[in-house]
Amino acid sequence: MKFQQVALDTLSKARAGEITTGHGTIQTPIFMPVGTAGTVKAVHQRELANDVKAQIILGNTYHLYLRPGLDILEKAGGLHQFMNWDKPILTDSGGYQVYSLSEVRKIKEEGVTFRSHIDGSKHLFTPENVMDTQRIIGADIIMAFDECTPYPCEYGYARKSIEMTHRWLKRCCERFDSTEPKYGYPQALFPIVQGSVYKDLREKSAEAIAFFEREGNAIGGLSVGEPAEEMYAMTEVVCNILPQNKPRYLMGVGTPVNILENIALGIDMFDCVMPTRNGRNGMLFTRNGIINIKNEKWKNDFSAIDEDSALFSDINYSKAYLRHLIHSGEMLGAQIATLHNLNFYLWLVKEAREQIIAGTFYNWKNNMVKKLAQRL
Ligand code: GUN
Repeated sequence: MKFQQVALDTLSKARAGEITTGHGTIQTPIFMPVGTAGTVKAVHQRELANDVKAQIILGNTYHLYLRPGLDILEKAGGLHQFMNWDKPILTDSGGYQVYSLSEVRKIKEEGVTFRSHIDGSKHLFTPENVMDTQRIIGADIIMAFDECTPYPCEYGYARKSIEMTHRWLKRCCERFDSTEPKYGYPQALFPIVQGSVYKDLREKSAEAIAFFEREGNAIGGLSVGEPAEEMYAMTEVVCNILPQNKPRYLMGVGTPVNILENIALGIDMFDCVMPTRNGRNGMLFTRNGIINIKNEKWKNDFSAIDEDSALFSDINYSKAYLRHLIHSGEMLGAQIATLHNLNFYLWLVKEAREQIIAGTFYNWKNNMVKKLAQRL
């Protein structure tokens, strides 16, 4: 994996760059649609590549390990082949899902014991077996196994937690470095900075993580209920420490405003379920603000879903029609809304990149954040 900086903003810490992987190049800043279980929900791979122009998608170790399972994934020749997606994939390690989805978990030095949210079966994730699992899934970028602390989190717990996450990282690196990729293209391992909302812990964690000198670095444990200002403060502290010449990935973030503010602080990569999950529920993000398509207000509005969009379904279907589909629980409603939101998120980061290159990012960002959070 290679990261090249293309442009640096002078009024903020924003960067435009290029990540090269075994499945092609990613232009940063980038948003990664969430494809938890080998599918970005409600979107066909062809639409994802050709219409939304996704450059990289995210998969989840936790889900893929439980279903379809490693046997099937290995027989298929890895996740790219299984789902017929030949662009880059990043997999999260399960270091978040075991806490948010599974039942009855025990966190010990060895790893985390949990019960499947699907059938209640018992499993153990360790730093070592999570590396092995991600070798089998075969994503281009894989994540270290970490503990994502909840919010709020007591200082003492957060301190002990980063210490364990760092010990786990050492075990992840040892396993990763002593094994080979299975499918003929390289994989990169990104470690994850934790430390809740405590500046000194974030600094300590960022320093420990930077010391490992991996090909990229991630920030976790944010967007878990803390105020946005606390999230930005943590991003800023961490970005001051993480190396300039490596990509920085902010996990699970966020709203369009969160994304622009964090780009300004030096983040290159994002993922979030918001455009897909909220889309299925009728929330549409646009460059003028947020639409709840279920509102009465749109019942007789036969204008296009989004006049500013180049997407076929945004131009050729009306707000009234999409409102009807979502209200009726029709699958096409989820498809159209998801396509719209993903297309918007990918537009937003592409535009941010162009503004960084043109030297106009900072003012553009400040104007955009005023509009993006408005309710239409
Ligand atoms: N996704 C969102 N936040 C996190 C985190 O802190 N850790 C991991 N592994 N995944 C995440």
